[in-house]
Amino acid sequence: TTSRPLNIAVAGTGYVGLVSGVCMAHRGHNVTCVDIDERKITIMQDGISPIYEQDLEELMYLNRDRLTYTTDYISAYKNADAIFIGVGTPEQPDGSADLTYIATVARQIAETIEKNCLVVVKSTVPVGTNDKVEQFIQDFLVNDVKVEVASNPEFLAQGTAVRDTLEAARIIIGTNSIEAEDTLMAIYEPFGLPIVSVSRRSAEMIKYAANDFLALKISYMNDLANLCELVGADIEDVARGMGYDSRIGSKFLNAGIGYGGSCFPKDTKALEYLATLHGYELRTVKAAINVNKDQKILLYKKACQRLITFNGLKVAVLGLTFKPGTDDLREAPSLDNIPLLLAQGADIYAYDPVGIENFRKKYPEAGLDPERKNGKGSIRYVMSAEEALDGANVCFIFTEWGEIKAVMPETYKRLMRTPLVYDGRNIYAVNEMRDNGVEYYSVGRK
Ligand code: UGA
Repeated sequence: TTSRPLNIAVAGTGYVGLVSGVCMAHRGHNVTCVDIDERKITIMQDGISPIYEQDLEELMYLNRDRLTYTTDYISAYKNADAIFIGVGTPEQPDGSADLTYIATVARQIAETIEKNCLVVVKSTVPVGTNDKVEQFIQDFLVNDVKVEVASNPEFLAQGTAVRDTLEAARIIIGTNSIEAEDTLMAIYEPFGLPIVSVSRRSAEMIKYAANDFLALKISYMNDLANLCELVGADIEDVARGMGYDSRIGSKFLNAGIGYGGSCFPKDTKALEYLATLHGYELRTVKAAINVNKDQKILLYKKACQRLITFNGLKVAVLGLTFKPGTDDLREAPSLDNIPLLLAQGADIYAYDPVGIENFRKKYPEAGLDPERKNGKGSIRYVMSAEEALDGANVCFIFTEWGEIKAVMPETYKRLMRTPLVYDGRNIYAVNEMRDNGVEYYSVGRK
């Protein structure tokens, strides 16, 4: 293998595509990022990242000489050494992954390439998809060139995507030929990271296996947390005690309001679906999915036991995004709870440091929706946690943003009309809240 720079095209400029593309440019390759969205391309040409992600714009700037953004896939693909596919594979109603975008790109590749080229599937796809993509490209190929498909799943988390890519614990490459393996080795050699080279199908499976294991870990802790409450144990202490065992590991043991985001919910359902297709019931993953579904509305249900009604109550909601450090709302617990609260007639005052703009698109401000499509209640967006808490009857914490963690326990007591707090992220010490006169409910702690 050599470390000469390669000409790389990346299809799709979402989290996966854009971050991978920018990081490959940072490691010396010439990268063309392709997207069908003109607006996105234009703002990237102006040096602006279409997604909220730490360090990304800085790297876009540093590597601007090696980065091109375009909607013109023909010129991007025709002479590329490798084309990465990083388009979305959204969940379909039956839980399976929608491969329409992948197929569109595959067809464009088949119709445009003019020299031998490696197509690298980075999107999370069901096991066996790489085989299908390779066949699909063959079927539509226009010129007499050789195309191979390789699997190269990514493990970046939103909010830390750049660091997760440049300092990845491992790079997984799944190939069915030495040539394909060599090309991927040449691309990743400058990263100086451990590379695990396996078959295409194993690589596809590793991605789901890793994500679903993490989802299982979280659901296991949430399941235990609920039991801890019943038997008088404290899930945080339990997690601390477990984490010292390196076979268990101390990370991803945080109980709370359930996992959200674009990956765990989708990837658990997709693997379960794949198993079903093969006549197998993947019982462990199924359990993780079920626990998570209930976990997301656990605190709401607890609050329903405590209050006669939400009708006319001022409800402070702190945190809308599925986790801190991102403006992404996909599968966020707030999306499960807010409609329930609105249906019960709550008057919601919601605060989130970056998620409001996206949330407002789904739930327009009170009064602006004459048909009250959102139910009986109302929703307003405010600029600080304090503003949300002012005069509130009850507070829900859905995301552990630093700005929210910084709210002192005495602030709840001072600002709320009745200091009743349901914390889905266990951000406060139970005693501290109680000592400050707050009626405090969290997850897995007495
Ligand atoms: C996840 C994985 O962490 C990445 O490794 C993977 O590459 C990515 O999916 C993907 O498939 O693209 P992400 O969804 O961005 O990344 O976010 P995480 O930080 O993993 O958090 C997922 C959810 O789990 C969040 O809602 C978070 O609040 C929740 N979580 C996480 C817990 O409830 N408890 C924990 O201990 C950890």
